[in-house]
Amino acid sequence: MFTFPYDAVVFDLDGTLTCSDQGIIQSMRYALDKVGATVPVGVDLRAIIGPPLMVSLMELLGLDEHTARTAIGYYTEFFNREGMYLYTVYPHIRSILKMLRDGGVFVAMATSKPVRPAMAILNHFGLTHYFHRIITEEDNEKVVNKPELIRRALPESYRRAAMIGDRYFDVEGALANGIDCIGAGYGFGTEDELRNAGATHVVADTESLRAYLCPGAPIPRGYFLTMEGLDGSGKTTQMDRLEQSLRDYGYSVLRTREPGGCEISEEIRHTILTTDHMEMCPACEALLYAAARAQHVHEVIRPAVERGMLVLCDRFVDSSIAYQGGGRELGTEVVRTLNAPAVDGMLPDATVYLNIDHQLALERRHSASSLDRIEVESAAFHARVQAAYEKLISEDKKRFLLVDAEQDVDAVAADVLDVVLSRLEPEFEG
Ligand code: TMP
Repeated sequence: MFTFPYDAVVFDLDGTLTCSDQGIIQSMRYALDKVGATVPVGVDLRAIIGPPLMVSLMELLGLDEHTARTAIGYYTEFFNREGMYLYTVYPHIRSILKMLRDGGVFVAMATSKPVRPAMAILNHFGLTHYFHRIITEEDNEKVVNKPELIRRALPESYRRAAMIGDRYFDVEGALANGIDCIGAGYGFGTEDELRNAGATHVVADTESLRAYLCPGAPIPRGYFLTMEGLDGSGKTTQMDRLEQSLRDYGYSVLRTREPGGCEISEEIRHTILTTDHMEMCPACEALLYAAARAQHVHEVIRPAVERGMLVLCDRFVDSSIAYQGGGRELGTEVVRTLNAPAVDGMLPDATVYLNIDHQLALERRHSASSLDRIEVESAAFHARVQAAYEKLISEDKKRFLLVDAEQDVDAVAADVLDVVLSRLEPEFEG
């Protein structure tokens, strides 16, 4: 039976859960510019990440109290508007929080950030629900200091607790409370800083952090997410946007595509799509898509989902049902049957469908440079594909996440992210 080394874990925020340098530094540059102050020679602005702002402004940047207060006003204005959206969640953090929480460990946060920005960030990234307790400073002025924040974050009783933080004051706060401190060496402090302060252990990355906090614990199954749509629905652009956003949110994303995604399947892709093979019959086409899929599921998709990855796949078996079943008129059941050994039970957990009428999709395709053997098919073919997709969706409303793809690119991207996040994290606060 597996046991966690710590039954209470307290995390710092900036530099431990979130990579915040761009958000904080750009907000500070804006504030300093507004109050007419400059960064003293030899000062690295990254040093402001972690300590209370008032301390950094007065002690590190040499501002008097009045100017520091004014600067905080400007900092907050910029931070709320732009700065916090430059944050990203470090990879694996979501799975660490989930593993600890599901394993019965008390999970808390102690940050020197004031309550408003701290909660705004946790809510923005949908992380709030992982914590049993969240302790922040009230505001930028009434600072209670790190040892006290950590003391408040700890549960009433525990067997063994650890603080996870990236700066010396996290270590000092942990030691003052008589608990271990694991230094987040990937954050904004240096390994020497953390070791000299007395860190119990320093991890170089979040994968090592997971191994240290949850040694030998099974990594939770990942997620299989697909995206479907007619040719011309803007799928490639939306895949790019979704992939980047999910990475910024801290998901471990493996992006792949069909047909293709591994060497054998990419070779089959070429055979299927080249306009050199216009004589290819529908059955051959359907079997080649299925053959490419079999290898892809076996070699890439299933192992990655089992490793805890979020697999984001551009098209999957729904495409075969729509294109070969509907478009080529082989029939849904025939295509399903011949794909059964390829899919081998590995059905998507959710599927984004970019909803666009085939006429509009056709106009968009015509502005593209070169078309493949499927894209050059008649309007009637693509109308049948659309009808087949619509039937599939009506039969499986729970799995399909419909997005209006006739809007402009940014609106589509925002809607896609929204439906995906609310499916990935039902507790997501948005
Ligand atoms: P892509 O352009 O989205 O990469 O897809 C390649 C083409 O292959 C596209 O026109 C849709 C088609 N296709 C099928 O006909 N059946 C399938 O099973 C898959 C995966 C794609």
